[in-house]
Amino acid sequence: MTDEQRPYGAGQADPALKRVRTRHFQRAKEQGIKITGLTSYDYLSASIFDDAGIDFLLVGDSAGNTVFGYDTTIPVTVDELIPLTGAVVRGAKRALVIADMPFGSYENGPDEALATAIRFMKETGSHAVKLEGGVRSAKQIKRVVRAGIPVMGHIGFTPQSEHGLGGHIIQGRGDDGGDRLLADAHAVEDAGAFAVVLEMVPSAIAGRVTDELTVPTISVGAGPECDGQLLVWSDWAGFTRGRIPRFVKQYANLADTLLGAARSFKDDVESGVYPAPEHEYGE
Ligand code: KIV
Repeated sequence: MTDEQRPYGAGQADPALKRVRTRHFQRAKEQGIKITGLTSYDYLSASIFDDAGIDFLLVGDSAGNTVFGYDTTIPVTVDELIPLTGAVVRGAKRALVIADMPFGSYENGPDEALATAIRFMKETGSHAVKLEGGVRSAKQIKRVVRAGIPVMGHIGFTPQSEHGLGGHIIQGRGDDGGDRLLADAHAVEDAGAFAVVLEMVPSAIAGRVTDELTVPTISVGAGPECDGQLLVWSDWAGFTRGRIPRFVKQYANLADTLLGAARSFKDDVESGVYPAPEHEYGE
């Protein structure tokens, strides 16, 4: 199959593959093909995930935690995310690269949202932006989309408002929670988003949102009914140390691998095993 016919699940790297576009997201939903996404914050991880055929790379504001070491995503800035996003764009030949708009870069209204989205598009080469919020962010989404910039929505648990939400709490529970989630989902779709992330919501309500929306839903802890799955790469690869959310399946244990490698290096240097003759330059 050519990439045009089947842009998803492409497997190994193929330089002939075309770029995944937002229209491929729509087609994937219509054809029942699951969409895959990982976060990425640098060139090397982006090129590896791209070679694996991951459909989109999100340069998440989770970089605030994973790259910059903040306790929450709230402090991370546009200026901090721009160089990371540019690096991911340079590493991704096929995947759609989505720039995450951080807290404080769009809440003031549609003008601010558009200015931030334009900065990401011009300064990084990203292909789309993401911003958090349903009904409350609909005006911002509409303005950015009207300017020709694809927007991914993000509803359910929205980490930038964790203090307003009262902590890391599952969203969409109960009749009221379900109604609010559906209203947010429809607001984001009506505003023109090409896809919407559902974070930490029960699978049943995520399934209902997925059925009701024409655009794809992307799950981050929202169960199997969604049209795609997205994970923070450092959680997924076991690079994160400490508590991992219940919805994450770990596919590697990078933290232990690196810890073991660093300890071996230290031992080798201290005992004189490294560098060996094969690591030396002659005259
Ligand atoms: O910043 C991020 O990584 C995200 C995803 C978890 C959706 O927003």
